[in-house]
Amino acid sequence: MLEVSNLEVAYGSITALHSITVRVDKGKIVTLIGSNGAGKSTTLRAVSGLLKVRSGKIQLEGKDITNLAPHFIVGLGITQVPEGRMIFPNLTVVENLQMGAYRRKKNGEMKSDYEYVYSIFPRLKERQKQVAGTLSGGEQQMLAIGRALMSKPTYLMLDEPSLGIAPLLVRTIFEKIVEINRQLGITILLVEQNANLALEISDYGYVLETGRVILEDKSESLRVNALVRESYLGGA
Ligand SMILES: Nc1ncnc2c1ncn2[C@@H]1O[C@H](COP(=O)(O)OP(=O)(O)O)[C@@H](O)[C@H]1O
Ligand SMILES: [Mg+2]
Repeated sequence: MLEVSNLEVAYGSITALHSITVRVDKGKIVTLIGSNGAGKSTTLRAVSGLLKVRSGKIQLEGKDITNLAPHFIVGLGITQVPEGRMIFPNLTVVENLQMGAYRRKKNGEMKSDYEYVYSIFPRLKERQKQVAGTLSGGEQQMLAIGRALMSKPTYLMLDEPSLGIAPLLVRTIFEKIVEINRQLGITILLVEQNANLALEISDYGYVLETGRVILEDKSESLRVNALVRESYLGGA
């Protein structure tokens, strides 16, 4: 279990998270939804060790990992796919994947890691030698997720995987997230502005507003919650 308790994070004098508590049970898909600026990315970056935590605690299977260096956190099994994908546009697909391997490995080991990624994303296998910058937005997102899988995480955190992607491919990406959870047994913490889809595939959800959790519940309950429908599901 990944547990964030009473987390406070600030950018200089601006407090971005005011005592956030979030629990991600092993094997589940948990989502953080909320408008732009709510603190979703800040939460993920704090868990990844990319931002210093001012107070509160982050625990992995009961072990305190607060403010550990990012590479230690990856080594412990938590990997983040950053917002905006951040692939290397001038490298090929396979070279991008290679960048995600946590340790330098022998050729044979690398090969089985690529196959692990291709089992979820056969499309990347077909495009191994293609320069990443020439992939479509959706394919680049698959590559970013694939690169994160190269570190064989037990917890995968995704920051707005649907952002800037054609609607048809958004559904594919979400199906892949479910496959990663079910087939590879990876626990998922998903950040999304597309609350509709996020709540559809997740088990549990948190609603963030200006750095606070204002609501949490089973995803199926959040989907029928009046406030959530009004504010995040377009009043549908
Ligand atoms: N690098 C930064 N410097 C200063 N303030 C930031 C920085 N990144 C984010 N913030 C602020 O922190 C708050 C939370 O941002 P963020 O976590 O990116 O929100 P979200 O991912 O939910 O859109 C916002 O008020 C945002 O303006
Ligand atoms: Mg964000």
